[in-house]
Amino acid sequence: MFDFIIDYYPMFLKGTGVTILLALLTVLFGTLIGVLVSITRFNNKGFFGKILNKLADVYIAFFRGTPLMIQLFIFWFGIPQLFHIRLKPVGPIPAEFIIGAIALAINSGAYVAEIFRAGIQAVDKGQMEAGRSLGLSEKQTLKHIILPQAIKNILPALGNEFVVIIKESAIVSVIGLADLMYNADKVTAATYNAFGVYIVAAFIYFILTSVCSKLVSVFERRLDQDA
Ligand code: ARG
Repeated sequence: MFDFIIDYYPMFLKGTGVTILLALLTVLFGTLIGVLVSITRFNNKGFFGKILNKLADVYIAFFRGTPLMIQLFIFWFGIPQLFHIRLKPVGPIPAEFIIGAIALAINSGAYVAEIFRAGIQAVDKGQMEAGRSLGLSEKQTLKHIILPQAIKNILPALGNEFVVIIKESAIVSVIGLADLMYNADKVTAATYNAFGVYIVAAFIYFILTSVCSKLVSVFERRLDQDA
């Protein structure tokens, strides 16, 4: 049932490497995008601020409200067609990887922005009023009183998002990026052993998500002790 591993384990290893790299980049840039977007959403002052605010709302609504696969296709097929460009690899990095990472990060950014908004808004309104009445400015209150409390709401949801990214990254296989999912398809095609191959791939994804959850919970506990 699993003897194909002897011949094909390099495919699984390489695919797993690509999946891990892709997930790491997505987490990094997705969180960055999410934080920046949620900052623009909390600032509604002035003409420019209002426009950015609206744009942020549209961005979040679109990327949370449409399938990730369609978003990926828009980046991979749609935009190059619109601008008459031919996607090329950058040095050793295949175009599939670059587009896959961009699509995943932009998608995740929308979810992260919502996680931050929800986490901050869950902190009682009285906390801002208390800070202000103690003579702190709005910014100071946000930094020293609201955010330290919000982080407790944000971290578990953010950790969950990281786990989701590891699993959802499998969608990049449809544009031909040789991640774990794509390589599993390849091994299935070569061995006709769909059951064995996909069980092994599932097991590897499961290890990745378990390790990620574990890391997040260790980090959360550490933060709890500091508080
Ligand atoms: N599979 C869903 C979709 O196609 C999930 C999208 C990714 N979710 C996320 N939390 N980044 O829309």
